[in-house]
Amino acid sequence: MNSPKKITVTGAAGQIAYSLLWRIANGEVYGADTPVELNLLEIPDALGGAEGVAMELADSAFPLLHNINITADLNEAFDGANAAFLVGAKPRGKGEERAALLSNNGKIFGPQGKAINDHAAQDIRVLVVGNPANTNALIAMSNAPDVPQSRFNAMMRLDHNRAISQLATKTGRLSSEFQDVVVWGNHSAAQFPDITYATVGGEKVADLVDHDWYVNEFIPRVAKRGAEIIEVRGKSSAASAASSAVDHMRDWIQGTETWASAAIPSTGAYGIPEGIILGLPTVSRNGEWEVVEGLEINDFQRARIDANVEELQGEREAVKDLL
Ligand SMILES: NC(=O)c1ccc[n+]([C@@H]2O[C@H](COP(=O)([O-])OP(=O)(O)OC[C@H]3O[C@@H](n4cnc5c(N)ncnc54)[C@H](O)[C@@H]3O)[C@@H](O)[C@H]2O)c1
Repeated sequence: MNSPKKITVTGAAGQIAYSLLWRIANGEVYGADTPVELNLLEIPDALGGAEGVAMELADSAFPLLHNINITADLNEAFDGANAAFLVGAKPRGKGEERAALLSNNGKIFGPQGKAINDHAAQDIRVLVVGNPANTNALIAMSNAPDVPQSRFNAMMRLDHNRAISQLATKTGRLSSEFQDVVVWGNHSAAQFPDITYATVGGEKVADLVDHDWYVNEFIPRVAKRGAEIIEVRGKSSAASAASSAVDHMRDWIQGTETWASAAIPSTGAYGIPEGIILGLPTVSRNGEWEVVEGLEINDFQRARIDANVEELQGEREAVKDLL
């Protein structure tokens, strides 16, 4: 057995955490040889809910779950953390402008970034799930100057998994057969699920589906899948978000066989300016995401990637006093 890893989950009384915590406690992030200690962060009013979640986790008697700590104190929550899932966020109020949403959430993620900077372990990895995830991650990163920027990610994996699911349904193939799918950009309706390089069982996906379906059905359906789930389920995606968060963190730590879509700080690759966090084609090697470089980008792709860059730069501008 390895020594235990400390994992912080914020928004621990919420609906995503209610799935996520069970997967973490089952050892799916660091693997079956590594016990975990959980730090659950909640706002003071929701500590009772987090307490109840912790009781149920304890009742599940996971062999790898060594400790659960519940707190509303940021410094305590991130103390010694090796991994952090930043899930808790302020939902969009009725009629609330996007700029106000960005700034209200920024006020959560700035202090969390600072607490991570001051208290987390050297190998801390942060995955921001709470929306608007990409810009929240940028705010947390900017408030943690002593932590390498590459340790701050936002989640595009749900979008990536949604894209594969739509392709699997369309072609009658298994999700596991798809490779080299990527979702570029922002976790928003502007995102660009891209099948240009994708293959299934060695065949090019673009040869199996018609272009009109790809542009007019697939791309908008993946991008608006969150709204579709709310319409049908009556609540926002939770278990699928939790599952994708585990996929992301597990792959980051343990490595990938094929491409994944991870929102990481831009490196200048593909002419995308630095200073934003966006979904890119990535592989994980030795605990670090690497951008898959050298892909040819056509005009169709370029326009969609540029639209995402512009949107993220606009979001950054809206929160510039929090950076
Ligand atoms: N990136 C993605 O793909 C993706 C997918 C689905 C949902 N989300 C986002 O994830 C977030 C959480 O979703 P949910 O369904 O679990 O919401 P939820 O409302 O059920 O739970 C959120 C929890 O966060 C807590 N919280 C709020 N502010 C906090 C703070 N400052 N510190 C700690 N905890 C705090 C709340 O008390 C609540 O218990 C939302 O922002 C949602 O939009 C992202």
